[in-house]
Amino acid sequence: MQKRLPRQIYALWGGAETVPYPSWQTLSSDMPLITLCQLTKTFSEGGQTRTVLDAIDLTVGTGDFVVLLGHSGSGKSTLLNLISGIETPSSGTVEIGGVDITALPDHQRTLFRRDRIGFVFQFFNLIPTLTVLENVTLPQELAGREKTAVSTHALHLLNRVGLADRAHAFPDKLSGGEQQRVAIARAIAHDPMLLLADEPTGNLDEETGQRVLDLLLELTHAAGKTLIMATHNPDIAQLADRVLRVQDGGISNQLSVIGNQ
Ligand SMILES: Nc1ncnc2c1ncn2[C@@H]1O[C@H](COP(=O)(O)OP(=O)(O)OP(=O)(O)O)[C@@H](O)[C@H]1O
Ligand SMILES: [Mg+2]
Repeated sequence: MQKRLPRQIYALWGGAETVPYPSWQTLSSDMPLITLCQLTKTFSEGGQTRTVLDAIDLTVGTGDFVVLLGHSGSGKSTLLNLISGIETPSSGTVEIGGVDITALPDHQRTLFRRDRIGFVFQFFNLIPTLTVLENVTLPQELAGREKTAVSTHALHLLNRVGLADRAHAFPDKLSGGEQQRVAIARAIAHDPMLLLADEPTGNLDEETGQRVLDLLLELTHAAGKTLIMATHNPDIAQLADRVLRVQDGGISNQLSVIGNQ
């Protein structure tokens, strides 16, 4: 990759290195994919400390589609960032597939995320100086995978998300919905077992959002992958296996979904 890359890339996907980790195949099927134990996150601001997530215990099984609901500022993004290892907890642990990612050094945690987890952001987070195809292939190229195979697979995914003919366009030439479809292709290109999506349709109009959601579910939940999605949309929550409400630092199971968030 010859182009200069923004620094955020290294925070999200690390440099060109591979990691020897226990493979997902070594997991027993009755083991939860995610185990959060006493997970706490506090932020300090202007000399004051605020606890956003307070001693959360949670398990998520393989293949589940979990929706996180909660008012703005309740901690949904914080929770997703902790599960992905983008942020580290103040205390407590995050175990994914039997690996305690909170015990990993920063750099290894970044590489773990790149290898095992897909993340879809509300604002797409595509790299503007890379083409659509390069955006999808980048994390895998950094992981040292063979270029031709990575590129072929990326084109296949772009075809699945309906954007094969835009492979060589730059992101700013694409609509919001198209950019999010590229971001979904990028998030699943390395075939992660776990997809985290932070309001992936929050920045799209209703019809485009519905199409992006359908596609995301088809490529993840319907394919047996675990999907955790933060959203304000109760209609999306209706589709989930499990709805969790993030509120007052805690998480509770929500049995019915009524009204707007
Ligand atoms: N780096 C930070 N420093 C200080 N406070 C932070 C930081 N990141 C998040 N917060 C605070 O933590 C709380 C939870 O934020 P978070 O982004 O997780 O909420 P959210 O549920 O995702 O909200 P929204 O629905 O608006 O996206 C907010 O009050 C926010 O201001
Ligand atoms: Mg958020």
